[in-house]
Amino acid sequence: MPGKPKFYLTTPIYYTNGLPHIGHTYTTVVADVIRRYKRMRGYEVVMTTGTDEHGVNVERAAKKAGVPESEFVAKMAAAWRSLWDELGVPADEFIRTTDLRHVRTVQWLFKLCRENGYVYKGHYTGQYCIYDNAFVNDAKPGDNCPDCGRPTETITEENYFFKLSAFQRPLLDFYKKNPEFIQPESRKNEIVSFVEGGLKDLSITRTTIRWGIPVPGEEPHVFYVWFDALTAYLSAVDGPEYEKRGMWPADLHLVGKDIIRFHTVYWPAFLMAAMLPLPKQVWAHGWFLMDASKMSKSKGNVVLPRPIANMLGMDALRYFLLREVVFGQDGNFSYDALVTRYNSDLANGLGNLASRTAAMIDKNFAGKIPKAGKLLAQDEALARETQSAIGDILEHFEKMEFARALESIWAVIAAADKYLTKEQPWALGDSEGDTQRKATILSTTAELLRIVTTLAHPVLPESTAKVWMLLGQPGSVSAVELDGLRWGQLASGVQLGKAQTLFPRVEKSEAIERIESMANEELNPPAAPAPAPVATPTSGSAAAAAPAASEKIGIEDFAKVEMRVGQIKTAERIVGADKLLKLTVDIGTEIRQICAGIAQFYEPDSLIGRKVAVVTNLAPRKLRGVESNGMIIAASVGPEGRPVLAGFPEDVEVGARLK
Ligand code: MSP
Repeated sequence: MPGKPKFYLTTPIYYTNGLPHIGHTYTTVVADVIRRYKRMRGYEVVMTTGTDEHGVNVERAAKKAGVPESEFVAKMAAAWRSLWDELGVPADEFIRTTDLRHVRTVQWLFKLCRENGYVYKGHYTGQYCIYDNAFVNDAKPGDNCPDCGRPTETITEENYFFKLSAFQRPLLDFYKKNPEFIQPESRKNEIVSFVEGGLKDLSITRTTIRWGIPVPGEEPHVFYVWFDALTAYLSAVDGPEYEKRGMWPADLHLVGKDIIRFHTVYWPAFLMAAMLPLPKQVWAHGWFLMDASKMSKSKGNVVLPRPIANMLGMDALRYFLLREVVFGQDGNFSYDALVTRYNSDLANGLGNLASRTAAMIDKNFAGKIPKAGKLLAQDEALARETQSAIGDILEHFEKMEFARALESIWAVIAAADKYLTKEQPWALGDSEGDTQRKATILSTTAELLRIVTTLAHPVLPESTAKVWMLLGQPGSVSAVELDGLRWGQLASGVQLGKAQTLFPRVEKSEAIERIESMANEELNPPAAPAPAPVATPTSGSAAAAAPAASEKIGIEDFAKVEMRVGQIKTAERIVGADKLLKLTVDIGTEIRQICAGIAQFYEPDSLIGRKVAVVTNLAPRKLRGVESNGMIIAASVGPEGRPVLAGFPEDVEVGARLK
């Protein structure tokens, strides 16, 4: 049996002198969407991302942090990697430019280029931008970098040069023969005219930088960061042994428009010089702008992905990034637009359709998906409309028209809403005929839901998996083959899964405030460890949290802690914080809002009226963006530290002091 066709795609490897913001997240999320989509189309997919760890910037950042470069980059690479894991966009191959497999590949590529006569030694004096790690052609001393606007530095050094000039014709021929290589079209014109304007040879080693991959036998030469970085795509799939792995050439390099030249001019030229296969496509997307300018830490306008994922779920961020902006163009990021889309498209759109449908099936058919009875014209029309949307949506995905794909999926959802409003299954009675009609309407809606869920899966992996379970469909939605997706494949007679809220509606200003507050906490972490929401020791038993004998405290220290009997008035779950409950607690003198990390062990309703011990003189702090003004005391039980609220066997007055 022939194996699956392969698909290899990459994101840029990100610099380690900062942490990911939603600009980086955008590229990685798009790569993940394509990966999931391609898998559902039967491909064996490898997605590479990683970290670009060499160069002057890292040298300087490590110095500032007072640690060796290797230590600095190891920490940063781990942070990038674990954030991608946490956000559900893990790398299949995570390549670091300090990995040995990468070092070997860079040295091997250089050797091939040199053996083939495309490398020579020379001197170079020029203006260099240390932020972009690039010499700025035609710049004079004192000029700023045309890309980032920051001052350039004059550098003279002995370099190895790459004969880029020899590749003007081959590159132009290559673009002509492979019209799909540079995408979108507008970028292609830009690159073609750049190459037509003539190519200068490129210095590919440095002697003024220490933190880089050494050129074997040519120390102190180290490789120029772009020769080093671009090669990561090949190192990740076994470098010199790429043929054995079978993933090279890459099918797709996804990049931001800022780095397209490196990917469509330098990179294919290096590979041509080494006589290695060339990637099939480079797709340059636009930027996400904040207040009309590119996000950067120095401008203080970065948007972080984690607070958004915590508050609204990662699917909401994914949906927004892909729906809001035409892929390839720039777009503005705004929290307002994000939350609006969340409430209208996800909570009211997909979420509402799924929960309504399930609730009606539950009520009328004992939670079993009914079989359709006689179809009326309107049922058939909806089926036809959905069936024909499948082809259009797949075509949009194929062409990287993500916003249009989502628009078309949501048009199908809107058609279902309209259909339900018109057919009003809730108004039908219990007669044989009415029951039959209800069965048809609900099975039609459930089938439509199955199809939109499948099509939306690459973009909304978590929530569509939940809808799939809710519909009680066999297997997992990620295993559905999109090529075979048709109307009429709904499994009927199956029991619905447990009902759950997919996208709880949020109040806009509160949601934005909480996201911003979490971002603020992340960007400016508190200097001292903040108090835990519930007074539970972190390591299991109470003894573990007790100070060592030599650290015994005096009564005056204990007296600093004010504890009172409180009574819980209200308790509710917090959207985006699985472990926390938001409580209001009467402490005698006032009602306090307190967050407690007990949501996994206590039902909110069971707590109302309960008397608890409260630390009342703690400085307020925000937990997951929600203000907490005090702390509830609990024992920490068992190895997993299950919280058990401290209480009073006798009746006590609210507000009484604990001494
Ligand atoms: N290390 C180089 C890439 C080497 S690839 C062989 C680099 N790193 S970077 O950390 O600066 O990441 C750049 C990439 O991050 C962009 O190409 C783009 O994919 C993404 N983005 C960074 N900011 C962005 C926005 N504001 N909007 C969209 N994408 C952005 O360049």
